[in-house]
Amino acid sequence: MWILLRILLYAQFLLGAGRVLGLVRNPFVWEMHIGIGGLAAIIALLLLKSTQAPVNAGLRAAARFMPLVALLIGLARYFDWLIDPFTYWLHVLSGIIAVGLVEAAGGQERRAQRS
Ligand code: HEM
Repeated sequence: MWILLRILLYAQFLLGAGRVLGLVRNPFVWEMHIGIGGLAAIIALLLLKSTQAPVNAGLRAAARFMPLVALLIGLARYFDWLIDPFTYWLHVLSGIIAVGLVEAAGGQERRAQRS
């Protein structure tokens, strides 16, 4: 499940960065950003539940909910509830932070399991 979540988040980054740079124009390709984002947010919520392993609980909780935050901002923009440039960049930033947090929390869990 970890590897799936990481692949989905990197796909989100590539699609999103491609969109920012004007490279992703095909609507069918772009629509995948919504589907993959929804799936990634659900998997993060399920996978990053609190654990007994010696990991940073705050980091883990942030990693658990950040993909959902990115999803909600993205959906609010999709439905035109948010239309200002600030929330555009807030979404991009929250998406990139989500990738980093999930990587960090995953690394902590793997190291905790090894020791
Ligand atoms: C957990 C990660 C992410 C989720 C769940 C997510 C979700 C979404 C959703 C649902 C939308 C609305 C789709 C649309 O406007 O057609 C969206 C839009 C967008 N996303 Fe993401 N996204 C994520 C990460 C990223 C990242 C990392 C980037 C950039 C590096 C990015 C760039 C964009 C851009 C440029 C838009 C269009 C915004 C607009 O035109 O209003 N996303 N995202």
